[in-house]
Parts: sequence; structure tokens; C-alpha cells
Amino acid sequence: MNEKELISQAFAARERAYTPYSHFQVGAALLTREGKIYLGGNIENAAYGPSNCAERTAFFKAVSEGERQFAAIAVVGAPEGTKKELFSACWPCGVCRQVMREFCGPDFKIFTFSGKEGITACTLAELLPHAFGPQMLENGR
Ligand code: THU
Repeated sequence: MNEKELISQAFAARERAYTPYSHFQVGAALLTREGKIYLGGNIENAAYGPSNCAERTAFFKAVSEGERQFAAIAVVGAPEGTKKELFSACWPCGVCRQVMREFCGPDFKIFTFSGKEGITACTLAELLPHAFGPQMLENGR
């Protein structure tokens, strides 16, 4: 599974986003270390607050199926009807970064796509430096 394939899976996931309020559709494709892929789209709600980002949809699907080891995630997002060449990079929100930190180390890779730059990548350490993670709760008990 290369990053191009993972991005194309994220585009497929985006097709199924449920976004009647923002009309901003996001798709995510989460790759486990064993090579399995879990897809997620954002799922909005009339009460707004209960809405869930694409990245967390993918993580929660995977974790609830027993997965714990992850290699990378691809994320694509743009308003409904946007042509591929007009996509901007869609980096995960702060809440999703924190969810990633729960299950992933600093080298976990995040890919996104923009029409201008194509695929760009960074690590979780770059997206969430000085993270508060599970390690903080390991001592002092
Ligand atoms: N959203 C995601 O699904 N992932 C992101 O990385 C950024 C934002 C969703 C939340 C909401 O449904 C819509 O995009 C607009 O914020």
C-alpha cells in the first residue's frame, strides 16, 4: 500500500461523508501496521456538537474491531462538489490529533492532498509536539 493508493481510498471514503450542515466533506483512510485499511467520513448532526470527524470515524471503527497498531492515515477534504484540482490540504483538527496520539507514536504518518502540491506528508510529532499522551499517566500510581 503506497501513499497514492491510501489517498485514493480517502477519496472513496469522502463519497460517503454525511455533511448536510457544513457541506464540507472529509474522507480518511487509516492503514494498520499489518496492511489493513479502515475508512471513515465525517458524520454531522443536527445538534452540531455530536458531529464526528472523518479521522476519528476511521480510528474508532478500527479500534473497536481490535486494531491497536497503525502506520499512516490519508485525509482529504473540501466543500461538496469541489474538483480534485481545487482541493486544499486538509490536516487533522486538534481533537483528532489527540486521538491519534492515544494509539500512535511520533512517527505515525499523515498524508493529505491538494491540487497545487499533490500529496504532502508529515508525522504526528510534527502535528502535535509536546503531546500529552498515555505515557503521562504511567507513573505516580
Ligand atoms: N472535519 C473533519 O472531518 N476532519 C478534519 O480534519 C477537519 C474537519 C469535518 C468536521 C465537520 O463535519 C466539517 O469537517 C467542517 O468542519
